[in-house]
Amino acid sequence: MVFDTRPKVDVCVAQTGETYACATNESLLRGMLRLGRKGIPVGCVNGGCGVCKVRIVTGVVSALGPVSRAHVSAAEECDGVTLACRVAPTCAVTLEIAGKLHKPFSRAAGPTPAAPNQQ
Ligand code: FES
Repeated sequence: MVFDTRPKVDVCVAQTGETYACATNESLLRGMLRLGRKGIPVGCVNGGCGVCKVRIVTGVVSALGPVSRAHVSAAEECDGVTLACRVAPTCAVTLEIAGKLHKPFSRAAGPTPAAPNQQ
């Protein structure tokens, strides 16, 4: 049996409340996948699809590779947006899902209106 002794920090997905321990030398996405957790949408896991787009709410991350401008604009990057498969946490991180798949995680603005024949 091999034990993973790498230093780890907590990563919290704000929309779901899911928290997992991620090594400081693995991507936010790989750390989640290693533990079989869910929360961040998973695509190519290599920076090519943009599905794992997140915004870092608190904490600091370091780049593991380039983040394509096709998926994260300079303005978004200044707002803390990045790709979860391209950055590793350097301390505890809270993130929000920010890509096209963020809507399932968004809280509803109010109750869903009832269909006319149900009123
Ligand atoms: S999973 Fe495709 S860019 Fe991150």
